[in-house]
Amino acid sequence: MKKSLNQKLIDLVEYYNLTNINILLSENGIKRSHDSNSPRSGSTKLQKLQKLKNNIKNIKNCELKKSATNMVFADGNINSKIMIIGEGPGAQEDKEGIPFVGRAGKLLDKMLDAIQLNRSKVYISNVVNYRPPQNRKPSETEIARYLPFLKNHIEIINPKILLLLGSTALNALIGNEIVISKARGKWIQKEIGGAKLWIIASFHPAFLMRQPEQKKLAWIDLKMIREKSKTLKI
Ligand code: URA
Repeated sequence: MKKSLNQKLIDLVEYYNLTNINILLSENGIKRSHDSNSPRSGSTKLQKLQKLKNNIKNIKNCELKKSATNMVFADGNINSKIMIIGEGPGAQEDKEGIPFVGRAGKLLDKMLDAIQLNRSKVYISNVVNYRPPQNRKPSETEIARYLPFLKNHIEIINPKILLLLGSTALNALIGNEIVISKARGKWIQKEIGGAKLWIIASFHPAFLMRQPEQKKLAWIDLKMIREKSKTLKI
């Protein structure tokens, strides 16, 4: 029997609740496979994510942490095969503790929607988990401090596709010698932790808001992700 649109929406919300990192790790959220004794598959991944979150929370001598309101860990589906990495939280993300919920996030949602993706189908995090004051770029030292956490995060999620948004994510994970305008729109195969990844860089949505004429290039990159997802049967 064909499902009604309403039923499909109910299913989607239910699925999102079952997989969304912020609900699964919320202190007052529903405890499903979160239970550390749970034999259900997925609990190990959740436990690892909880441990990583605690490790980041316990970071010492970090100026970013001192000036921030909330840690911004991640958003989306922990079982997704597509992981997206931004730079660092802005004002709205700092307030809500969720990545990409401000103006750049709204544009990111539209970009994802253009290739039939949304937050129930991807997993999103950042290079640094606390807001750099005045939205400045994180420093080399700050990036180096958070990089082991980011690599661990990627290893736990174990995506097949990694989308790096902007130069900070590109330089942190691929190297300082490349520039985003040259690196974008090209697939790189790389292993991070134990995860074997197809990596692609594209422009950061905040950059696209300042330079909307570059959106046509971002669209090419998005279509490459859509094609790769089909090839990889994601
Ligand atoms: N920009 C980022 O890079 N990350 C966010 O979470 C928000 C804005």
